[in-house]
This record gives sequence, structure tokens and C-alpha cells, in this order.
Amino acid sequence: MVFRLRRFTLRRVLFLTSAATLFFIFIFSLTPIISPLPPYTGPHEVGILDLETELEKRVIHDAVLKSTGEKAFELNTLAITLYYPSSLPMNSPSSRPWARLWLPQPVSLIGEGYARLAGVPRLSSIFTFALWLLGSSTVIPGVVDAPILSGAEKILTEEAGSGAGSFGKIMSAAEQEHQELKRDRKIGTLPCLVFTHGMAGMSQSYAHYLGSIASHGYVVAAVEHRDGSGPGTVIHHPDGKERKVWHLKLQDLESNPPMTDLDLKAAQLNFREAEISETIKLFAQLNLGDAPVVNLKPDSPREALPGFKNRLNLSAVTVGGHSYGATGVMQALKSAGSKAMPINGGIALDPGKGSGLLNKDIDVPILVMQSGEWTEKQSDFYGQDWHFIVVRKIVESLREGWFMTLAGTAHPSCTDAPLIVPWIMKMVTGTTLNSKVALREYIETSLRFLEYLQTGKKNGVLGSSVTNREGPFKHDEPRKWTKGPHGADWEIHVVPHVGEDEGTLDE
Ligand SMILES: *[C@@H]1O[C@H](CO)[C@@H](O)[C@H](O)[C@H]1NC(C)=O
Repeated sequence: MVFRLRRFTLRRVLFLTSAATLFFIFIFSLTPIISPLPPYTGPHEVGILDLETELEKRVIHDAVLKSTGEKAFELNTLAITLYYPSSLPMNSPSSRPWARLWLPQPVSLIGEGYARLAGVPRLSSIFTFALWLLGSSTVIPGVVDAPILSGAEKILTEEAGSGAGSFGKIMSAAEQEHQELKRDRKIGTLPCLVFTHGMAGMSQSYAHYLGSIASHGYVVAAVEHRDGSGPGTVIHHPDGKERKVWHLKLQDLESNPPMTDLDLKAAQLNFREAEISETIKLFAQLNLGDAPVVNLKPDSPREALPGFKNRLNLSAVTVGGHSYGATGVMQALKSAGSKAMPINGGIALDPGKGSGLLNKDIDVPILVMQSGEWTEKQSDFYGQDWHFIVVRKIVESLREGWFMTLAGTAHPSCTDAPLIVPWIMKMVTGTTLNSKVALREYIETSLRFLEYLQTGKKNGVLGSSVTNREGPFKHDEPRKWTKGPHGADWEIHVVPHVGEDEGTLDE
């Protein structure tokens, strides 16, 4: 009886798997469900580099893994993906050199990671297959290990605009580069952004958003967190040993006293904060250019790194993050301006609803952008109030904070997912705004904020006044939006106090 039952189950699984395979093949032939990532929005070509460097070993929390007894929160190396403006001129869109696969390798690691995350580790081959099916043909546009944009080029490109004809100027500028740099080393240094991913996310899940910001002249480092929030990642030790870090759940951990869910979140957020701080240190090391930076990532080149010497503006480092990462951004802003965290502001995309309490002790400018879904679907936030109200209260209490919602978007709208599988994402998330338009709106508004941090000018959506403070809780009157640069609707909930009626609102 038991035997027959098992056979039945096995047959069922086989049947379901082949049915799913046929279904995908069928869909494939009917609809192009996979789209390539679009070109970046800015004038510069983009260089990409995966970088892993050794850190001084640090234990963030004493909890150990039940399975192996190893420390769960030990920081050994820092892994980031760098996106930066490059000197390689773009000839024509068709001859663009493609960078590298969008899916981190090996795919089976990520597949197993997501299977574990979903609580069905035995189905890891199905997850790997699905990832391979949907993600394996996608590449991140850009040039691996391309030389970083030189100071002279940046100035000329800016003067000449992004139009055709700047090519020759760039080339002659490159020749003069050395003299120019000697004359004024500081001219044209590049502002930086550290980006932290969401729960179950990866550093390359935001390639279009981050690469586009880089194409406008920013050096972006997307951190691959080893805090157990991602699907899976490999730590490469300098001695050649490897350690896999899988997604962590409370029941995987042992500690005395036992950890609560909030303890786990706190440990992960502290871990992330340490990684953000180490990323900024790495920026400083690259900018100093004295000691060569050893890249522990296997098969990742590092020719471009010496070119980072004197190219970064370390007084213009900003942090950004999505979801869990946005919660991390708000936490990092608590120590903004300190030696460990020399940052000038933060961009928070959909601050987490269950990723721990949100820090409200913030002294630098912040831009909080929420997706339509995040704002419309309200839930209680740790017994404090509705999530929307908690976020609004925090931003309203700051001198320089924006809080706004991009209508028609969903939580993953700032990731690459809706660009790669637009059709599936639209079905699953019910977004009404075109996914490319949504990303352009996010990118431009982020750029306006980054410019604000340097110039104090409020352009684009940042120049708007409040359109609806109440957000989803406005019932007495129709809700109002303002148009974004690409025609999308932004609902503005909070804008900075400074400049408007200074003096009256001083607290
Ligand atoms: C570096 O950034 C700071 C702060 O935004 C700015 O004031 C300064 O002019 C920048 N320096 C260079 C050389 O670009």
C-alpha cells in the first residue's frame, strides 16, 4: 500500500514537472517572456567589477549555526559589485560589449538558496531550472573591468552634453589627462553610492537602476550581504578556502539566550551596517591607491582598480537600499558623519515592513520612495501604527526629508525582475505603470536627490510641494499626484522644511 502510494506521488511529481516544462516552452514560443536589460540612461559607458576583499575578522553576534556549529555572523570578507562611469566610448548600441551574466554563478547555488528560502530544499533542482530558464540569457550591459572615467573626460563630456560628436573630444582629452590631473587633482572626482539589497535579494538584482546611476557619473558599490538574508553566497578566504552562506532562519541558529525574530533582524542590520562601513573604507583605499587591492573573487579581473586613485569624492558618499536594505539605510544614517560612516544622505526604497524597527535619529537629507503597492497595502508596524504613518512621522520630524509614492508600481519595481520578465511580473504584482518607465522615474528622482546633496537645488519631482500628506488614508477628497519626468504619477507626502518657511517650523 505504502509502496503504491509512493509510486503514485513520484508519478505525480514527474507529471507535474513535465507539465510545467511544457507550459514554459509553450509560453516561450508564444510570448517573448524574457527581455534584455535596456541600455543605461546616462551619457557615460559603464564599467562593472565584482570585487571581494579580505577584512579583519569580526564577529557581529555570537549565535552559531545548528548544522555546523560555525559562527553565523562572522565578517571575513567584503563582496561588492562596482558599477562606475567608464572611459570606453560607446560607438553604437549594436557593438556594445556585453558584460557578464546577470545570474550569479554557480546558478545551482542560487537555485538551492531560493529552494531553502521557500522551505523546500529538496526542490532545489526545480528552482535552479526555473532560474536558468528565466535568467540565463540575461546579461548586465557594460564592460567588465573597464577603465574608470578620467577627470578631464568628465568635464568635457558634461560640456559637450551626451550628444554625438563628443567622441573626438573625449579621445583628445584622454591624451591630456595626465597634465590635467596634475594641474588640479580634485577636479571632476566622482561622487559615490553604496547600495544595500533587500531580503532574498542579491547585489546584482538592481543592475539597471544602479548601472544607470553610474552612467550619470557616480561610482556605485552594490553590497552582497553575508548576513544570511540573501539566497546564498560564497565567501572566498585568502587561503583559497570557501564558505557558503545560506539564507538564515531563526530555527537555524543557536544562541544563549535564544534569539527572537527582532534579535535576528538586529544582528543582520548590524552586520549590514558593518559591511556598508567597510565599503566606504574600500572607497577610501581605492582612492588612496597606495596598496594594491587584492580581489578574492575567482575569475574576476582587477586591472581597472589602480585607475580609481584620486578619482573618488569621499565627501560625497551616499547610501541607498531597497526593502530590508532601506531599513539598513535608515539605521546607517544614525551614525552619518562619523568616522565609520562618512555619508551625506540616504535613499530608501520601500523601507521594510517586517525588517525591524526604523531608526528616526537622522541628521542628513533622506529620500524615501515607496512603490504604489507598499503605500496602498497597509499593515500594522510593530504595534506602533500603520507602516505609512510611521514612515511619514519619521520623515516629517527631519529637516530635510522627502517621502513620496510612485503610483502603479509594486515592491519589486525598482529591481531588474520586471525588466527581464515583464509579462510574468505584471501578472504576479498587478502593476499598472510600464516597468521601464517606473525604473526611469526611480532613477531620475534618485539622481535629482544626489544632485541636491551636492548643490542644494531641488529639481524635478523634488521641487514639488506636498500633493497628499495622507496617502492611502485620504478619504474626504480625491488624492492628488504630480507628474514625473516620464509622465508617471508621484504622490508627495512630505517635503523638507528647510527653505519653505524657515524659522516658523524650527524645533
Ligand atoms: C565633492 O563633494 C562635495 C560635497 O558634495 C562638494 O562640495 C565638492 O565640490 C566635491 N568635490 C569635487 C572635487 O568634486
